[in-house]
Amino acid sequence: MVEADGPGDRPAPDGSSVSSVPFLSSVSATPAAPSAAALSTASGSGGGSGVPVADRSLLVQMRGITKSYGRGAAAVQALAGIDLEIRRGEMLALVGPSGSGKSTLMHVLGLLDRATGGTYRLGDRDVTRLGGPAAARLRGSRVAFVFQGIHLLPSLTALGNIELPMAYGRQPKGERRRRAREALERVGLPHLAHRYPGAMSGGQAQRVAVARAVAAGPEILLADEPTGALDRRSGRTVLALVQELHRTFGLTIVIVTHDPNVAAHAERIIQMEDGRITSDTPVRDRLFAEAEDAAPAGQGERAPA
Ligand SMILES: Nc1ncnc2c1ncn2[C@@H]1O[C@H](COP(=O)(O)OP(=O)(O)O)[C@@H](O)[C@H]1O
Ligand SMILES: [Mg+2]
Repeated sequence: MVEADGPGDRPAPDGSSVSSVPFLSSVSATPAAPSAAALSTASGSGGGSGVPVADRSLLVQMRGITKSYGRGAAAVQALAGIDLEIRRGEMLALVGPSGSGKSTLMHVLGLLDRATGGTYRLGDRDVTRLGGPAAARLRGSRVAFVFQGIHLLPSLTALGNIELPMAYGRQPKGERRRRAREALERVGLPHLAHRYPGAMSGGQAQRVAVARAVAAGPEILLADEPTGALDRRSGRTVLALVQELHRTFGLTIVIVTHDPNVAAHAERIIQMEDGRITSDTPVRDRLFAEAEDAAPAGQGERAPA
């Protein structure tokens, strides 16, 4: 019963299924959230040249994080003592066999779930015990999720999908639309604003999903097997996009993957086994992906952008 790798196979802490709120819990923006554009300047303290100067301070600090499911003889220890530090602007790959705890770690990192033991600091806050609305608020302003599969709502256009999570925040509609358009531009698909998911390629849909994840201006992007459901071409395109977000906006990124080739696109690879980190190594000869499905304009749009 370990084959499902995404979050959809388990209940969210609030009892709802995570897949029913794909990114949504993650990216409802708070009024204080920086805009997508502000991200680059926020990380470019004193740069002045427009090139982001990375703030490399510690974003994530985990010490002895454990997570158990169930009790007694039936208890499963999904995380068995995780020590992990992530600096702002790093891009990590998290690899390991199915059942090794990768998704559980992503859920704890993203404040979707609480650890059983240990301590977790996110930025300047101790978030170890944080739950409920406080966790949801922090998640909304800082964390974005890209889960396996795409989860765009078929009844909404690209813009509609991107705006949806921001509807849970408090920005006025015009501001949400502005951010949605900006995010769509950032993923290179401004001409798909009014297109419905049914008329997008897999790679395009995934890029719209990425736009939705980053529209509110998060600080960390957590991607659980984002290329797992895609063909190779689309997978490379998504990887290229994630690397672009990393490079251009200094976004901190953790990407879970089974594929060593995908992992080689990160700066650092963390290997997990049985709920533990078994190695943590910098990537030599890092790979860089190039987008391959440059979107053909003018297909399937219901109205001009
Ligand atoms: N909600 C849950 N209830 C019980 N056991 C779970 C739950 N979620 C995960 N597990 C167990 O925790 C372990 C780690 O799972 P997971 O984090 O999904 O691993 P991975 O993502 O590396 O495949 C597995 O043994 C899995 O069966
Ligand atoms: Mg998993």
